[in-house]
Amino acid sequence: MPSTNLNLRRFCLLAVAAQFLFAAGIQGADTKSAGNKAAKAPVKFGDEYAGSDACQACHEDIYNNFLKSPHKATETDARSKWKQHGCESCHGPGAKHAGSVSAEDIRNPAKLVAEQTDRICLGCHLNQTTHAGRIQSSHMKDSVSCVACHKVHADGPVGLVPRNPEQVNKLCAGCHLNVMAEFQKPFRHKLPEDAMTCVDCHNPHGSSRPAMGQTFAANEPGCIKCHGDKRGPFTFEHAPVRYEGCPACHEPHGSVNPRMLVRHEVRLVCLECHSNLPGVTKNASAGVVPPAFHDLRLPQYQNCTVCHQKVHGSYIDRNLLK
Ligand code: HEC
Ligand code: HEC
Ligand code: HEC
Ligand code: HEC
Ligand code: HEC
Ligand code: HEC
Ligand code: HEC
Ligand code: HEC
Ligand code: HEC
Ligand code: HEC
Repeated sequence: MPSTNLNLRRFCLLAVAAQFLFAAGIQGADTKSAGNKAAKAPVKFGDEYAGSDACQACHEDIYNNFLKSPHKATETDARSKWKQHGCESCHGPGAKHAGSVSAEDIRNPAKLVAEQTDRICLGCHLNQTTHAGRIQSSHMKDSVSCVACHKVHADGPVGLVPRNPEQVNKLCAGCHLNVMAEFQKPFRHKLPEDAMTCVDCHNPHGSSRPAMGQTFAANEPGCIKCHGDKRGPFTFEHAPVRYEGCPACHEPHGSVNPRMLVRHEVRLVCLECHSNLPGVTKNASAGVVPPAFHDLRLPQYQNCTVCHQKVHGSYIDRNLLK
């Protein structure tokens, strides 16, 4: 379906353009890129800065944990612009607060509007490969900031990135309760058992696929990472597998139907596209009508995949029979 392809390409172009514009917009932030550690002129610390030693005096636990966390690099790395001022890289100049001890005199990234918080973090994290798509993610558009998922101090020095499956699923479920509920259906992945996570299929920072889908190799759906036999390239492709993707026929979060199909019988999945009826689902696009010898009143023609075994694509048969 060339139009799908074209739309995707158009979308990618837009995304790249948006990213470029955004990057230009935040260049003013006087921070270095975490990815690119090339030395730049250090920040000139005037009287408004107190230095991390000053913070240590009153926030000792936070300070000590900080020196065990990945962000200690901002404080101690020889090439850091923020050497000995790591705290102020996120909190801004702190001398006034160190004198007044008033919360009003210091910036807390977690209390800002999401866009401002993201600017602080992206000041250093923009050019990392992990965030290639972040700018166009739904999370950014819907004001879910970096600190909604990354606690800088609150979860301790190793809690900055949720890594174990239980933590990740709990985090996502915190806001996406409805999705978590779909995983209670009878046919589903073993996500509630923490055998896999939302991040196996979604990139929380965004991606070039719909619904922030994870990608595999050259922009193929993340499903392929585990279901490699569905990858192809097949000599005889089944058009929807490539052009509409797995959710054309499967409910990835779980289904009441075997094989996580969108319909309770396989043939109903097929006939939605392979009949002369207009498509009834959002995904349905016309496939060819089965040849006349398919007498659908006869039981032997009702289970399509008994004959069309290679419904994801075939190496040898154009009718996906073997
Ligand atoms: C003399 C003691 C003292 C020093 C020095 C100090 N703080 Fe504080 N800080 C406090 C106290 C007390 C509070 C709690 C204020 C409140 O809740 O009203 C606080 C609160 C904060 C908060 C929370 C603000 C909020 O809105 O939630 C941040 C962030 C903070 N300090 C960062 C820093 C940084 C960064 C430095 C070093 C530049 C620093 N502090 C130096 C005593 C200090
Ligand atoms: C990478 C950015 C970053 C750096 C660097 C950083 N902080 Fe924070 N700080 C935050 C964020 C975000 C919060 C909100 C709470 C959280 O995420 O844990 C916060 C909260 C705080 C608070 C309020 C604590 C509370 O319970 O609400 C204090 C105090 C504080 N920081 C002090 C410091 C000190 C001292 C340093 C240096 C040792 C420092 N911060 C370095 C981002 C940072
Ligand atoms: C002054 C620069 C700077 C700022 C501002 C900054 N970071 Fe970082 N961040 C770093 C550096 C340096 C590292 C160490 C890893 C690296 O080299 O990329 C890091 C690492 C991380 C990691 C990865 C830890 C890991 O284990 O892989 C996360 C997550 C992170 N930062 C989140 C944030 C968030 C959230 C904010 C905003 C509240 C923020 N950072 C602000 C410089 C910064
Ligand atoms: C919706 C939740 C969410 C948001 C919002 C989010 N992250 Fe993440 N981030 C995660 C999760 C989950 C991981 C762990 C991913 C993994 O294990 O593959 C992660 C990983 C990271 C890492 C480590 C990459 C690695 O694999 O070592 C960095 C750095 C990072 N995030 C920075 C950021 C920054 C900067 C922002 C804001 C611009 C942000 N994140 C927004 C959930 C989020
Ligand atoms: C602080 C709340 C919050 C957390 C935590 C959170 N999300 Fe979201 N997420 C949202 C909001 C708000 C939206 C946008 C509205 C919507 O589509 O529901 C969204 C949208 C999404 C979408 C839809 C993207 C699209 O383009 O249709 C996916 C996928 C997603 N989140 C996955 C995750 C994953 C995976 C995690 C855990 C790493 C996570 N979210 C954690 C709030 C959150
Ligand atoms: C097996 C892979 C897979 C897993 C695991 C998965 N998703 Fe999805 N998710 C998808 C796919 C594929 C879509 C797109 C569905 C479509 O196009 O109809 C999607 C769509 C979404 C959407 C947007 C549409 C909607 O249904 O609201 C959200 C939000 C979302 N997922 C969140 C999550 C969260 C949160 C988790 C973890 C509890 C999760 N997903 C686990 C594959 C997965
Ligand atoms: C992290 C690996 C992983 C990813 C990613 C993944 N799956 Fe799965 N999938 C599995 C495993 C393992 C099973 C075996 C069933 C179980 O968990 O009991 C499975 C089972 C299935 C089944 C049901 C098979 C049956 O016999 O009932 C379908 C359909 C399926 N996956 C589709 C998808 C789709 C579509 C995606 C992408 C949106 C996807 N999977 C992503 C690991 C994965
Ligand atoms: C045109 C509809 C359709 C599309 C698109 C589709 N599937 Fe399927 N899939 C099916 C049907 C029908 C079955 C059940 C076959 C049977 O009953 O023998 C199935 C079964 C499966 C199974 C379990 C049995 C097996 O063959 O391993 C997995 C896993 C699976 N699909 C993964 C995927 C993945 C991954 C994608 C996307 C790359 C995908 N499917 C796209 C229709 C589809
Ligand atoms: C989302 C729509 C859709 C669904 C669902 C679907 N198909 Fe298809 N199918 C197509 C399209 C589009 C083509 C390509 C038609 C063409 O080449 O003109 C196709 C091609 C085929 C072909 C090969 C015909 C040819 O000449 O290329 C067979 C056989 C087939 N489908 C069987 C099935 C079976 C069996 C199922 C159910 C498991 C199924 N299809 C589900 C859309 C669908
Ligand atoms: C008893 C075995 C059998 C069953 C069951 C079966 N088919 Fe077929 N189907 C075939 C054969 C054999 C061909 C190839 C005919 C040919 O070579 O022209 C075919 C061809 C097709 C084609 C390709 C038409 C074209 O013009 O290229 C479609 C589409 C199709 N079947 C759909 C279905 C659907 C949908 C079902 C379930 C309702 C189904 N089939 C059930 C044996 C079967």
